[in-house]
Amino acid sequence: MKNQIEIQNIIKPFKKHIIVSSDKSLSIRCILLSSIAIGRSKIFNLLKSEDVNNTLRTIKKIGANYIKKRNYLEINGVGINGFNIKKNTVLNAGNSGTLARCIIGLCSASKNKLKLIGDKSLSKRDFSRVIKPLNLFGVNIKSRNGMLPLEFKGTDLIRPINYAENKGSAQIKTCIILSAINTPGVTKINAKKSRNHTELLLKYLKYPIKIKKNKKYDLIQVKGLKQFKSFDYKVPGDISSASFFIVLTLLSKNSTLLIKDININQSRIGILKILNKMNANIKIINRRNYRGEHIGDIKIKSTNNFKSINCPENLNSSAIDEFLLIFLIAAKSKGVSKFKNLNELNKKESPRLDMAIKFLKMIGIKVIRKNFDIKIFGNPDLDLKNNYQMKNFLKDHRVFMMTVIAALTLGGKWKINDKDSIKTSFPQFLKISKKLGAKIN
Ligand code: S3P
Repeated sequence: MKNQIEIQNIIKPFKKHIIVSSDKSLSIRCILLSSIAIGRSKIFNLLKSEDVNNTLRTIKKIGANYIKKRNYLEINGVGINGFNIKKNTVLNAGNSGTLARCIIGLCSASKNKLKLIGDKSLSKRDFSRVIKPLNLFGVNIKSRNGMLPLEFKGTDLIRPINYAENKGSAQIKTCIILSAINTPGVTKINAKKSRNHTELLLKYLKYPIKIKKNKKYDLIQVKGLKQFKSFDYKVPGDISSASFFIVLTLLSKNSTLLIKDININQSRIGILKILNKMNANIKIINRRNYRGEHIGDIKIKSTNNFKSINCPENLNSSAIDEFLLIFLIAAKSKGVSKFKNLNELNKKESPRLDMAIKFLKMIGIKVIRKNFDIKIFGNPDLDLKNNYQMKNFLKDHRVFMMTVIAALTLGGKWKINDKDSIKTSFPQFLKISKKLGAKIN
């Protein structure tokens, strides 16, 4: 069947090194910020994926052009409030929540009305989380009950805001920061900790942004309307993509893997901290700094004595895209693992908490859920023998890839639908799996 793969055997032991796709969050942020810089930016090693292509199409539609060169992308920035937004422009964010939330902030001062649409999955996601702060800035927004399609337009009354971002969402935070850049005066955001790539990039660009770090929150102050110059940037590898192969190696027998040039920003490596607490054999070597970000190589060895975890809630945000994989390790651990307050997991490309529970039950793992807390009863001897079919998961790329890793390590005969979903974030995923020895039809 088209768009379906089959896996019949677990992967054989491997000793390899790989590089994975470039970081999606940084790729999207580099494009958005270079579109409002003054002059031509050069972005090297940009992720090649549908979310990134949609970002490029979007900035082009509002007046920032780009040229694909042999080993970089050149983006012609138009300066702050320099977009040429035609009447009734329609922007299509496809599957990308990051693009959709951030583009509204980037265009918050537009005098002409914009319409924002997305695919089936994005059209089920919540936008009230960005509508609320943007309304306070003075942006007029019409939506379908807080969901796409959405129409928005800036007003002459655009003004800075004081906002408490309590969800720990980098998409909301970035949307507000981008809108603050378009707005005269100083915007203050008290943001629950989440990935901080936007802040680090702006600091590197010497944009007037101040950050005061507290234990759980960062107080961010952004001065509006300060033009900044174009820049060069080489995007490092994505820890979220690397995580599939980290877990593949951990759950395989007698294998080692080195994954090179990965962004290991503290706000992204929750998975490493959580898995190390569960006994996983993972080390970061060759650490270095790049334009305010931290980069390193990750060395992984097969592990067969995982311990359960009582997962500290303060790690939730820094592992938000990796919980599906962490749950697989919990399923193979000795004891009961506990995770709390995972509400945000159900706000992703699919309701991932619901999906994960359905998946774990399907492979015979006991799970108890209370609201957004779950307990996973691990089974170190888990060895699947049945036939499994995975379909209807809203084409969620991370659910697809997690299922492939489960099939390659836990046994069973698998049919997995929606192979094309990987185009969103990690088109090389199946190719790299095969390079490591996976037999996938
Ligand atoms: C992202 C932030 C996270 C994450 C998403 C990418 C970003 O979403 O799940 O894949 O680049 O800002 P939230 O900020 O909504 O948690």
